[in-house]
Amino acid sequence: MAKSTEIHLVKRPDGMPRETDFAVHERTVPDARDGEIQIQNLYMSVDPAMRPRLSKGQELNEPIGGPATGRVTQSKNPAFKEGDIVQHRLSFRQHLVSDGKGVTKLTPDPALPLTVYMHVLGNGGFVAYGGLLDIGKLKDGEQVFVSTAAGSVGSIVAQIAKVKGCRVIGSTGSDDKVAWLTSLGLDVVINYKKQPIRDALKQAATKGIDVYFDNVGGDHLNAALPRMNLLGRIPVCGMVSAYNNPGALSAPINTLSNIIYGRVMIRGFTADDFPHLRAKFTEDMTGWLKSGKIKYQETIVDGITNAPRALIGLLNGENTGKMLVKLAD
Ligand SMILES: NC(=O)c1ccc[n+]([C@@H]2O[C@H](COP(=O)([O-])OP(=O)(O)OC[C@H]3O[C@@H](n4cnc5c(N)ncnc54)[C@H](OP(=O)(O)O)[C@@H]3O)[C@@H](O)[C@H]2O)c1
Repeated sequence: MAKSTEIHLVKRPDGMPRETDFAVHERTVPDARDGEIQIQNLYMSVDPAMRPRLSKGQELNEPIGGPATGRVTQSKNPAFKEGDIVQHRLSFRQHLVSDGKGVTKLTPDPALPLTVYMHVLGNGGFVAYGGLLDIGKLKDGEQVFVSTAAGSVGSIVAQIAKVKGCRVIGSTGSDDKVAWLTSLGLDVVINYKKQPIRDALKQAATKGIDVYFDNVGGDHLNAALPRMNLLGRIPVCGMVSAYNNPGALSAPINTLSNIIYGRVMIRGFTADDFPHLRAKFTEDMTGWLKSGKIKYQETIVDGITNAPRALIGLLNGENTGKMLVKLAD
């Protein structure tokens, strides 16, 4: 048996979540029975998409779900052995027992930190890669704009576009993040909290935009649409500006008609849309990571009881690169 601390949602947030919307619970996790495994979570992710689920989808008074990486501490399931590193979606808790469904074994490259499998080499990296190359049909040397460019997904999108010889404009919310993105080689970086995004983008996009990788929606999408080049593409990965107001965008879109004569394609997507790219993604991204062509940052918050603070911090833009919570060594 293992003592486990877990975080429950106790109140649906109104706008930005508060720490009082969450509660800490202690419980005893039983030993694994036949067919089961016990897992100790090592790291868990906090993601923007968790916010809409707090309004609808996530049960109250239950531990919150989300991506986590853990170690098998007991196994009575032949598919796993003690010490295996696994990934699953039962986060916001230290220990758990599972029948193995929804649990994937990871074979981490010993030359890389385990955490990269939660972003650059995980779902975030994969949506960046597939969204830009498959949905966005990026061609070498094109004009690219990416929003939340210093975040987990955005920073990878921006760097893949640089690998492909593109001119890259990024937007982000602090001067420190602007400095990091500039050091990565982005051509123009906009602090959207200091300048209206529409004016800044008009100035920056001197040759228009062929691909706008949208992580924000609202004001950023509204600003990008008039700048799109003929046959431009807008892969829509997320709309973080709307997540604290479920059902509403942060700003109205009144520039949509630009898609008509510009023949602009707008398409939403998830990681399920390009499974055929998985092997090539892993090969390319591992190579870029090891050669230093792709760099990353992590903002790591320590301890399960700080997980709500990490999620709130993410929505407030306190992360540079991937926001993670460390639960154990
Ligand atoms: N389609 C999929 O399968 C999929 C998978 C993963 C992620 N996503 C989406 O991709 C986007 C980025 O996710 P991520 O995990 O990489 O998160 P992230 O960018 O690492 O973190 C979220 C960032 O959003 C920015 N932000 C918050 N409120 C904003 C606002 N009103 N306007 C502009 N920016 C705002 C903040 O950065 P600033 O300091 O720059 O404001 C914050 O750091 C999200 O929309 C997410 O939902 C989609």
